[in-house]
Amino acid sequence: MRITFCCIDTESEPWLQGLQNALPQAHISLWRSGDAPADYAVVWAPPQALFDQQPQLKAAFNIGAGVDALLALQIPASTQLVRLDDAGMSVQMAEYVCHALIRHMREFDLFEADTRALAWSPREPLARADFPVGILGLGVLGARVAQTVAQFEFPVSGWSRSPKHIAGVQCFSGAQELDRFLAGTRVLVNLLPLTPETEDILNHHSLSRLHRGAYLINIARGRHLVEEDLLALLDSGQVAGATLDVFRTEPLPAGHPFWTHPRITVTPHTAALTLRSESIAQIVGKILALERGEPVAGVVDLARGY
Ligand code: NAP
Ligand code: GLV
Repeated sequence: MRITFCCIDTESEPWLQGLQNALPQAHISLWRSGDAPADYAVVWAPPQALFDQQPQLKAAFNIGAGVDALLALQIPASTQLVRLDDAGMSVQMAEYVCHALIRHMREFDLFEADTRALAWSPREPLARADFPVGILGLGVLGARVAQTVAQFEFPVSGWSRSPKHIAGVQCFSGAQELDRFLAGTRVLVNLLPLTPETEDILNHHSLSRLHRGAYLINIARGRHLVEEDLLALLDSGQVAGATLDVFRTEPLPAGHPFWTHPRITVTPHTAALTLRSESIAQIVGKILALERGEPVAGVVDLARGY
């Protein structure tokens, strides 16, 4: 079996070594133009040339959850696209969201300012009931985040394409229920995949439907957010603040207004990182299953775009 590895911005040697250790009989190498035909590819934002030159690939394994960069390419219909299915990401997303949510709701930024001012300033408690959390996307990551936030006794709702039933989470689905979902939300968490249907979904219309003084946590893709709409709604007071992990241009350019906005926290696309050993174990397990002719989880539906 031949496996080709083609991942930009990734230190390849530990991946090649880890894959080789797990599959000692396989021939595993870094992709180079003109290579012999491979059975499988392990990819992150590969060039079109990989698929043009390797049309026989049985599957390409994306070493991330989001496949928007891959779907911009022409990929042979016979090559299955498989994305990471959690592989240690959902717990990171749950940590990230709980941190941002609790920091906001418990006013930790104000206490940090008080510390710097040497001020002992107790505050009245705020009620969790006044901070209903709404999660856009109830897939592998969104469902875990929703369940974790519910354990902190915040009211939690979620929105997905197909109807869901998750204990402790009020579930909405479909375009017709989006406004009702938004109207019940104060802290909005975005965990949707980027598709033609979801691009620009965080815009003046949707963010204006939230409770006044809303808070946005965008951890999916930068192209979900219309950046100038967020800035205008922060100015008007409709949105109180935002924690943003993803941006239309990454790295976030120097001089971008998000860097210095007093009510925006920026993190560098780090909400849930790909964990190498968990990912290698998952990919190798799926390669072995495919070789046995068994179906695997995480196959991308090209028509849906995720
Ligand atoms: P997933 O399992 O595919 O879940 C996607 C969810 O979005 C599903 O619940 C799906 O509904 C819903 N959805 C998709 N299109 C929709 C639409 N048009 N209307 C309503 N709901 C829609 O994906 P995941 O593994 O949770 O990952 C989500 C995204 O997180 C990734 O695509 C990636 O962009 C992002 N991500 C970011 C980071 C980071 O570090 N910032 C790390 C990993 C992933 P159904 O359940 O009905 O299909
Ligand atoms: C990261 O953004 C991913 O999609 O895994």
